[in-house]
Amino acid sequence: VTDTVAAAAAAVDYDSWVMTDDGHPIPQSTTDYLIHNMLVLLGVAPGSRILEIGTGSGYSGAVIAKAVGDGHLVSIDIDAGLVERAAGLHQKANHTNVEVHAADGFLGWVPAAPYDGVIGWTTPHVLPQAWVDQTADQGVIVTPVKLAEVAGANAVVRCVVSQGQPRDGSPQPGSFIELAPEVITDFALPIRYVDASRVEAAGPRHMALDPAVPLSRDAVGVSAHR
Ligand SMILES: C[S@@+](CC[C@H](N)C(=O)[O-])C[C@H]1O[C@@H](n2cnc3c(N)ncnc32)[C@H](O)[C@@H]1O
Repeated sequence: VTDTVAAAAAAVDYDSWVMTDDGHPIPQSTTDYLIHNMLVLLGVAPGSRILEIGTGSGYSGAVIAKAVGDGHLVSIDIDAGLVERAAGLHQKANHTNVEVHAADGFLGWVPAAPYDGVIGWTTPHVLPQAWVDQTADQGVIVTPVKLAEVAGANAVVRCVVSQGQPRDGSPQPGSFIELAPEVITDFALPIRYVDASRVEAAGPRHMALDPAVPLSRDAVGVSAHR
């Protein structure tokens, strides 16, 4: 872990971000060492302008806020409840260099682009073009990606954006929940690559037990993310 990330991490109390008021860890939190390692890959440094996709508990954002100093962090989550919670915690911690938005991170966040670094804490189906477009030349993207069209077959990749193209991709171990077009609460069921899953016309996804019901390979609203 670089000095910058180590010093930032030492200034943030993990539990105060990931624990709810009633003493349970929020399910969308990531282990601290994985976050620290990915921030090292990102090369986060004082003055960096960073976009993170997947606010979750807010812990990763808190470490980034400390590390970038007079830089800036935009943190996006699809879950408005988590965004509100994290925004309150950042305010309490006096992180004035952070903005948190409820939005679909697949689209990035145009108003504050370009970013020196884009970090995904949730696995997109493909590397979103918006993330590449919103990264400054020689900026870095670190994100989980699919290795194969199999549920859970993920790795973390680091690439450098050069002349508008992601280059020098290097894979690292790591797995995160899938980037979804809606809030997911059932973390045990992947939203893609689950054959026995289908979408009701207007209802929730569920396991299709009726053999007369046609099965669909993709489960939930994936077309929005193609
Ligand atoms: C593993 S958690 C993030 C952990 C977080 N960085 C932390 O420090 O606790 C993944 C997050 O990605 C969010 N997410 C899933 N799909 C998303 C999307 N399309 N846009 C933005 N956030 C999304 C989930 O709501 C979840 O909070």
